[in-house]
Amino acid sequence: MLEDAYGRIATDLRVSLTDRCNLRCSYCMPPEGLDWLPRPELLTTDEVVRLVRLAVTRLGVTEVRFTGGEPLLRRGLTDIVAATAELRPRPQVSLTTNAIGLSRLASPLAEAGLDRINVSLDTLRPEVFVKLAHRDRLPDVLAGLEAAVAAGLMPVKINAVLMRGINDDEAPALLRFGMERGYQIRFIEQMPLDAQHGWRRDDMVTADEILGMLSAEFTLEAETSEERGSAPAELFTVDGGPYQVGVIGSVTRPFCGACDRVRLTADGQVRNCLFAREESDLRGAMRDGADDDELVRRWRAAVASKLPGHGIDDPGFLQPARPMSAIGG
Ligand code: 5AD
Ligand code: SF4
Repeated sequence: MLEDAYGRIATDLRVSLTDRCNLRCSYCMPPEGLDWLPRPELLTTDEVVRLVRLAVTRLGVTEVRFTGGEPLLRRGLTDIVAATAELRPRPQVSLTTNAIGLSRLASPLAEAGLDRINVSLDTLRPEVFVKLAHRDRLPDVLAGLEAAVAAGLMPVKINAVLMRGINDDEAPALLRFGMERGYQIRFIEQMPLDAQHGWRRDDMVTADEILGMLSAEFTLEAETSEERGSAPAELFTVDGGPYQVGVIGSVTRPFCGACDRVRLTADGQVRNCLFAREESDLRGAMRDGADDDELVRRWRAAVASKLPGHGIDDPGFLQPARPMSAIGG
């Protein structure tokens, strides 16, 4: 198992398959993009599959989520999904995506064994989409969402980040959109993970604010804390149910104490936290000929040193050197 010094056990593996993206969401990337990882540094499909196999068969990982950057841009994605879904015990296999290209890929991915997807969508207004993501792609995202439902990738979840002065008036509209179409929507507090280091605590739309805005138009009822478990989203039943909305207070209501996640970057580094300042290099070890036992040992050690919390509120907090697109959500 992947256990840390505080008794937390990581069972949920996030694998970033590329740091590239076809959007430029401002909470993540500058409009001009970033220096992408050089191709030789990326894990090959075989290397990804080997590490995922070790995580599932030797380290107790029960859920594998592929992320990016934008994972749909990764060649070999369907093969990676298929190889993951063939592992025993079979892990849950999911994807976090901006949904651009999903209208073509949803069916093949579902056939390969993908169970669920999370789609990033922060606005329903095309002009706001352009302002926020610097590309005019809202119709592609909406088409991708529909394709996901048609392919049976249910429940489709939507992640929405509200940004002050940009889309912070859209919480009720996004919720209504989710309710009408059966997408589970979760609002996420913006975290200091943007490459430009533009995050300011005062600009962040907090979980309390989001709940306030939603409560003006809907009746929300909180679930009990036992129901929450290690899930970062606090769920609220809307207007008597059964529909539920999630609010993820990553900054103001941290859930680090119940965290069950571990991350693998596209260049083969284990990160025990989104905000970790250290990584453990499995790619180098693999390419130097490390056997499975050695990789498993390194991976355990990487998780064992996980810190108790993200420390965003500590005076000495430093943003991680990598931005979100190179870590994986
Ligand atoms: N803060 C909060 N959420 C973020 N995401 C990306 N960057 C940030 C950030 N700085 C979300 C995206 C995507 C998921 C991978 O993480 O909306 O859904
Ligand atoms: Fe791309 Fe996701 Fe970053 Fe947006 S948040 S720029 S969709 S990687």
